[in-house]
This record gives sequence, structure tokens and C-alpha cells, in this order.
Amino acid sequence: MKKIGFLGLGAYVPERIMTNEEWSQYVETSDEWITTRTGIKERRIAAPEQSTLDLAEKAARAALLDANLTPQEIDELIVATDTPEVYAPDTASYLQHRLGARNIPSYDLAGSGCAGFLQALDVARSRVSDERKNILVVGVELLTRLMNWKDRNTCVLFGDAAGSAVMSSGDEVSEILASAAGTDGSQSEILCLEVGGTRKPFTLERAQRGEHQNLVMKGREVYKEAVHRMAQVSQQVLAKAGVNLDDVALVIPHQANLRILEAVGEALNLPSKKLFINVHKFGNTGSASVPVALCQAREQGRIKKGDLVLLTSFGAGLHWASLLVKF
Ligand code: UT7
Repeated sequence: MKKIGFLGLGAYVPERIMTNEEWSQYVETSDEWITTRTGIKERRIAAPEQSTLDLAEKAARAALLDANLTPQEIDELIVATDTPEVYAPDTASYLQHRLGARNIPSYDLAGSGCAGFLQALDVARSRVSDERKNILVVGVELLTRLMNWKDRNTCVLFGDAAGSAVMSSGDEVSEILASAAGTDGSQSEILCLEVGGTRKPFTLERAQRGEHQNLVMKGREVYKEAVHRMAQVSQQVLAKAGVNLDDVALVIPHQANLRILEAVGEALNLPSKKLFINVHKFGNTGSASVPVALCQAREQGRIKKGDLVLLTSFGAGLHWASLLVKF
């Protein structure tokens, strides 16, 4: 059987850095509160003229370059995002055109929050065939554009970014050895953006009350679920692959919050040097978080040929997903 996995990886973060101190101009907060509760020190903010498509394009082109492919060689395109270019059509349609790809099937995987990119990789892996060899997957969020800059409970947590991977088959790929994923819809209300759907359509009255940006987040419940699910799905993927955690070189979790990451590490009994962390630099970048971290880990020389790397994520839904990759 041919190996299926990554042929290329790419990431993009906007230039503008926003520090914790800057947030205190907008809400009653402090560097001390944000640092102790989340570990975040700064995040990136997209320039006013940039939109989701611009971020997605940069990450996609970086992954194509890394894979040594032209846009015409992509056979399918998936964009994981909760902050789309427009409501409809999907961001993937815009990206297909912007990249100059052929008229290939292109679609978004939306609404899975921070788990979106790994879910999309799992789908892409199952779709690679002789007919569809190269599948481009992008995780992109421009969260700071759509969130409520007056809600200190949520606004300080997020940042903007995009990451991408080309999934393909052949001897040269970094093989996906196993994947696992799950959903618990009974908990959808603990992390939810209601307004804009058919249950609560946009109205002037709701917008005037700021409800269109009202991200409902029961922080402590989300925290507990994030730790439990990321640890659990990591164990599942290791069991599926028949691999012991000792054999894994690096674990790259969704970068939600430093305390969540450390708790996942503890739950797995993982030595801290095997836990990749960049949340202090970028905050929570939703579906872009895992591919951005993956690219950074590779750039920093933390991933070597032959290494086993475990990716794990959790997001609204609630959804969770994990992949084990051999580089
Ligand atoms: O990818 C998934 C996305 N979501 C997450 O990852 C969030 C998961 N949850 C968390 O990370 C944590 O629950 C938070 C960082 C959101 C909050 O930390 P916590 O230790 O659970 O704090 P808390 O909710 O118990 O709030 C403590 C206090 C509250 O004040 P009172 O009611 O005790 O007076 C908040 O109003 O901290 C207050 N607070 C803030 N204070 C200063 C909330 N946000 C801020 C803020 N600055 N930005």
C-alpha cells in the first residue's frame, strides 16, 4: 500500500503584533491576568486590508512551494475555518480561483472551531486516491475581525493566522500512521456563536446589543473538556497505531492556553520537553493553530526525519481529533 501523508507544509502569520498591555486600552485587563491565566503574551492581528482569503492564500502558497507543486497540480481543496471570507459561498471557492487551481472540488469544513484543521486532514487522508493525488488543506482564522473587542472573557485569547498542508501519496510523504476523532453535540452550548444562524438571525436590534459577536464560552467547562478530550484522543490514536508514547518525539496540541497544554501533558505523563508550545507568541488561532505550530516546530529543528509526531486538537462542537505522523 502506498503511504499517505504530508508532502508539504506552510504557515502565515500577520506582521502586526498586539501585546497584552495593548488590550488594557480596550478592556479592563492586565498583562499579569492574561499571562497567569493563559500564558499568552502577544498575538498577531491581520491588517485592515487583509481578509481570510489573503491569509489562506499565503499559507497555501507556502505549502505548495514546500511540496514543490504548482496550484494546477492540486486535485482537491479543503478550507477549515469559522471566520469565512463571506457567509456564502465558501472560502474554498475564492481560494480555488485566487490560486489559479483547476476546477477541482473545493469546499469548507466550517463550525468545528479549533478542531477543524485536523478533521479536514482526516477527511483529506481518506480522499487521496490515484485520481485525486494531491489535496490541499488550509486552516485559517481571522478571529480578531469577528469577535467582540469589549468582552474581556474572550477577546484576549485569540489571534489571526493560517496554516496549510498538502496531503498526498508516495514514498516521499511524511506518513499519517493513524487518526482518531469524535464529537459530543450535547455540549455544543458551552462554546457557541449563535447569532447569524436560523435560530437567531441577524437583526438590527441584536447587532445594536452587540449580540452578533457574542461568543458564548463557559471558560472552565471548555477548559476541562479540552484537557480531557485532547488527552483521550491522543491515547486512542497511539493505541490504533500500536505505538507507545515513549516512542513519540513531539506532541503538538491545539494552542488554546498554556494551562490547558500543561494539563494535557500531565494527563499523558509526557516529559515537558516533548510538548510543543507557541501560545505565548500567537494566542489561540483556532483551526490555524496546529499547522502553524507544526511549521514552527519543523523550522526550529524539533522534528527530524523518522520522528513520530502526535497532533491533537479540540474545539467547539464539541469536536476533537488527533493524528500520528511519521516524518
Ligand atoms: O479552543 C477553545 C477556546 N477556549 C478556551 O480555550 C478557553 C478555555 N478556558 C480558559 O482558558 C479559562 O477558563 C479562561 C482563561 C478563559 C479563564 O480562566 P479561569 O481561571 O477559568 O478564570 P474564571 O473564568 O474563573 O474568571 C476569573 C475572573 C472573573 O472575575 P470574577 O467573576 O471572579 O470577579 C472574570 O470576570 O477573571 C475575570 N476575567 C478577567 N480579568 C481580567 C475574565 N477575563 C479577564 C481578563 N482580564 N481578560
